[in-house]
Amino acid sequence: MSTVRGPVFAGNWKMHHSPEAARRFFADFLLLCPPRAGRTVLFFPPAVSLAAALEACATRPDIGLGVQNVFWEQQGAFTGEISPALAAEAGAAWVLVGHSERRHLFGETVADSVRKCCAALGAGLRVIVCVGETLEEREGGCAEQTVREQLEPVLQALPSGAEGRWMVAYEPVWAIGTGQTATPEDAQRMHAFIRELLRRVGADGDVLILYGGSVKPDNAAQLLACPAIDGVLVGGASLDPEQFARICEAGS
Ligand code: PGA
Repeated sequence: MSTVRGPVFAGNWKMHHSPEAARRFFADFLLLCPPRAGRTVLFFPPAVSLAAALEACATRPDIGLGVQNVFWEQQGAFTGEISPALAAEAGAAWVLVGHSERRHLFGETVADSVRKCCAALGAGLRVIVCVGETLEEREGGCAEQTVREQLEPVLQALPSGAEGRWMVAYEPVWAIGTGQTATPEDAQRMHAFIRELLRRVGADGDVLILYGGSVKPDNAAQLLACPAIDGVLVGGASLDPEQFARICEAGS
């Protein structure tokens, strides 16, 4: 896949959809969502369902597939982990790094996410780095500080020339899985802030910024109408072929 320009519609299935459920999903979704020029659709199934998803999407080069997490080492005694090279050989083109569930449920640190980004890019994967503040941080007035502290170390560590191979997803933690979406104005403001951080390191033009957090068919068009929002990262609503197809139509 060449440089992605957007709009991007990414589905994060989290710990849902077995290989059989993935096959059933794509049997419907591929009919509901025919290829469209300029649109990129990505899926992050559980790693055990990646092969089934790849097979189902074999005739659809407009659809990219990835894994939800990797470890930074190349190989070794790391029970339960998947290296970027293993993921790439299994057919993943993309990986999510620093999803809020990784950070908050599994204790992933900023330093961990930096190592994962570098290792993934080094193995030829493309990366979506997820950032976002908790409700407490937002109410305490430090949403931007949190996002800066999550993103700046990544910006400092990435090899030059990585632009075009990674994106940012802004996902306020309080909006994930809660039905409470950021207003387009709040999202627009944070995206502009992130854009400015990118600009300062000269990584501006080729890095897209997605919004995630309770994106649904009825709010996707409004979010995607914001000039600073280049696409969406969708959890719950990406599990249903019809809902996700409607989201993909919304901004196209
Ligand atoms: P949600 O999840 O759409 O269910 O809020 C988004 C995400 O976690 O990426």
